[in-house]
Amino acid sequence: MKILGIETSCDETAAAVVSSDPSNPSNPWAIASNVVASQVDIHREWGGVVPEIASRQHVRDICGVVERALDDAGVTLQAIDAIAVTRGPGLVGSLLVGVAFAKAAGAARGIPVVGVHHLAGHIESVFLEHGAIELPAVVLVVSGGHSSLYFVETPGEYTLVGRTRDDAAGEAFDKVARLVGLGYPGGPAIDRAAKAGDDTAVTFSMPRMTHADRNNPRAGFAAEFSFSGLKTAVVRHLEKRGVTTLEGREAADLAASFQRVVVESLLDRTFEVAESLGAKSIGIAGGVSANSRLRADAEARGARTGVPVYIPRLALSTDNAAMIAAAGLRRLERGRTGPADFKVAADIPINE
Ligand code: KG4
Ligand code: ZN
Repeated sequence: MKILGIETSCDETAAAVVSSDPSNPSNPWAIASNVVASQVDIHREWGGVVPEIASRQHVRDICGVVERALDDAGVTLQAIDAIAVTRGPGLVGSLLVGVAFAKAAGAARGIPVVGVHHLAGHIESVFLEHGAIELPAVVLVVSGGHSSLYFVETPGEYTLVGRTRDDAAGEAFDKVARLVGLGYPGGPAIDRAAKAGDDTAVTFSMPRMTHADRNNPRAGFAAEFSFSGLKTAVVRHLEKRGVTTLEGREAADLAASFQRVVVESLLDRTFEVAESLGAKSIGIAGGVSANSRLRADAEARGARTGVPVYIPRLALSTDNAAMIAAAGLRRLERGRTGPADFKVAADIPINE
């Protein structure tokens, strides 16, 4: 079966073709194409994503991006068996463009259109890259809008076992980069700057957020992240130095120190939760999983603890439509296609 995935939840217009081969259960999904038109240069001028501009740009880009994804896969719409599209969470105006396009194309072809949860897409990116990883797994999803831990016992079923109580990790990267004057988007800018910095130069204290019921994680959240304090610490650091931005060595030191505490906090919770739930593997997905330190430290910790860590390649970490196609295939495989008249929503439950 061949599925066309469409993703327009934020500032990336993306389309991909993924095929599934049930005769190969250990690695059933193959990416035939994966096209992303990023709006990052458009939003840079504003220092963040402007929702109205984002939806208008999706309208401009969607046809070309889908055509390109079909072309790259060497197929036409006639060869597609189903369409998967992100229906939330995200910017409603942006989501509407993808969903309207998917429903129209699906109706024209008479094929099913499956609405999928954006974070289910990020979780499935791990399975898309690495095939059937050992279950149960704990998957850390770290993006611009979310920092959550999911427990996956059965493919396609996601139990929330940890989350941030304030900012998402990606949001913290973006805000700190803006405060220090490192540019937009903040995650890649901090990652780059940190390479030349000393990660112990600036002291940040990380609050330890552990749910009171940590011994029974299934009864509630096993762990909470908190990143908003780091922003305040950076503001204080700038005030103390009497400057409004940092440059050169100082910027690099701050970036490296900030990145170290965020990565440590993410990995501490993830490995603790994995241990307490008896997880056999760990997955890490979402835009922040593109972070070079997070990738290196997670792999090193996995090797030390004996818990295999699975991270998708960079093109599948940040927003893309191949992961949405994979989440759609998962729903089809489980017979959970959902209603044909599904609506977009800024926030939707992941297992709906
Ligand atoms: O998953 P994603 O592409 O979009 C959302 O669903 O939000 O994640 C975007 C986030 C942004 O906050 C961006 O700064 C962050 O991922 N990001 C990174 C890196 N690359 C992207 N954060 C840290 N290091 C990176 N290399
Ligand atoms: Zn995302």
